[in-house]
Amino acid sequence: MIVCHCAVVGDKQIVASVEAGATCLSQVCASTGAGRDCGSCVFSVRRIICETVESEAISDPVHTLAEAEREAS
Ligand code: FES
Repeated sequence: MIVCHCAVVGDKQIVASVEAGATCLSQVCASTGAGRDCGSCVFSVRRIICETVESEAISDPVHTLAEAEREAS
């Protein structure tokens, strides 16, 4: 699904960026190109980042969401 129509960036690219080590909105936007024009996609990009970080935290029970958020800041 296309999330950023200005840069034609899909949700899978955003997830891949997080999985590759991007830990915040600015890093994901820099690596994918999303969110750099009109900005209307930024909330959707942020939601996908949060969902991805959360699912990674759930798959690693020792690595809590709070720890993931701390690392992302
Ligand atoms: S839709 Fe992403 S910057 Fe415009």
